[in-house]
Amino acid sequence: MRVLGIETSCDETGLAVYDSERGLLSHALHSQVALHAEYGGVVPELASRDHVRKLLPLIRKVLEESGGGAADIDAVAYTAGPGLVGALLVGAGFARSLAMSWGVPAVAVHHMEGHLLAPMLEPERPEFPFIALLVSGGHTQLVRVDGVGRYRLLGQSVDDAVGEAFDKTAKLMGLGYPGGPELSRLAQSGQLDRFTFPRPMTDRPGLDFSFSGLKTFARNTLADHIGDAQAQADIAAAFQEAVVQTLVIKCRRALKQTGLKRLVVAGGVGANQRLREVLGEAMVALGGKVYFPRPAFCTDNGAMIAYAGWCRLQEGEQESGLSFNVRPRWDLGQPFHQP
Ligand code: KG4
Ligand code: ZN
Repeated sequence: MRVLGIETSCDETGLAVYDSERGLLSHALHSQVALHAEYGGVVPELASRDHVRKLLPLIRKVLEESGGGAADIDAVAYTAGPGLVGALLVGAGFARSLAMSWGVPAVAVHHMEGHLLAPMLEPERPEFPFIALLVSGGHTQLVRVDGVGRYRLLGQSVDDAVGEAFDKTAKLMGLGYPGGPELSRLAQSGQLDRFTFPRPMTDRPGLDFSFSGLKTFARNTLADHIGDAQAQADIAAAFQEAVVQTLVIKCRRALKQTGLKRLVVAGGVGANQRLREVLGEAMVALGGKVYFPRPAFCTDNGAMIAYAGWCRLQEGEQESGLSFNVRPRWDLGQPFHQP
C-alpha cells in the first residue's frame, strides 16, 4: 500500500510517499523559517497562505521522486491536529480533495502520533512497548506506548514546552528564530560549569516537567552579565545542560517505574545533539536503548504523517464524505471524532 503524507500543522510544509513494502520512497519539506524570522515567531495567517503556495509543487515533486505517480497512491494521510487552525485546514482541504478526486481513502493523523512513530522509519526500529519522550515546540510529554493508538500519558509540562523554553530563552539572548538550534550552537562555545541552573521538579516524585523557571533564571543571569559575550555562551550551555539533565532524570524515572528498557525520543528538540549524547550514555548505563529519528525527522515532516497514516489505515480508520474538520486542540490518544 502506498500513502501520500501531508503535514501543515505549523510552519513547515512536509510531503512524503511511504510504501508499506518498500519503505519511504520520497519526501520533501519547505520550511517557512525565513518568512517568519522578522516577526520572531510564527504568524498564523502567513503560515496558512504559504502552505497554499507550496503544497502543489511539493506534491508533484514527491510523486515524481517516488518512481510512480498519482495513480499509484492508495491513500492520503494528513495532519488533522493539534496545530494552527488555518494551517491545518489548508492541509486537510488538499488531502481530502486529492483523496476524493483519486478515489482513495483519506486518514486523519495526530501530529504527535506522527512524531512518536517517526523512529519506525529508521533501519533499527523499536519494538512495543516503549516509553516515548515527546519534545517539541508545543509539547513535552512522557508517554507509555503499548502499540499504535495505545498510549498512556505518564507526565507532561505544567507550563512551557521544552522547545518553547529554548525559543524564549534564545529570544532573550537576541538570537534568531527558531531559537533551539541557535541556542545550542552558541552553547558549544560555552563553559558548562560557570553557571548552575536548577533542575526543575526533580526533587519531588512524579513525571511532570516545568520549564518556565529556567527561562526566568536565564533572564536574571543575563541581566547580571550585560555586555559579556562569553557569559552569553556560558549561560546558553548551562541552560541547555539543565534542560537535558532534567529530561534524562525524568526518562530514567519513567523507565524504572514501568520496568521498560526502550526509550524513543521524538519532536524537534530530539534533534539536539547534547540531548542525543547524554541520553545515549544514560541508557547504556541503564542497560537499555534509546531510539531517535534522524534529525530531519525529529522536526516536522511529511514522512512521519505518511507512516502514522498507514498505521491508522491498518486499524480500519479512514475519512470519507464531503465535510471535513480539523482539531487544533487534540489530546494524544483521544479519537479524532468527538462523541
Ligand atoms: O516538532 P517541531 O519541529 O514542531 C512542533 O511540533 O512544535 O519542534 C520545533 C521545536 C522548536 O521549539 C525548536 O526551537 C526546537 O524544536 N528545536 C530544537 C533543536 N531543533 C529544533 N531545540 C533544541 N535544539 C535543537 N537542535
Ligand atoms: Zn511537531
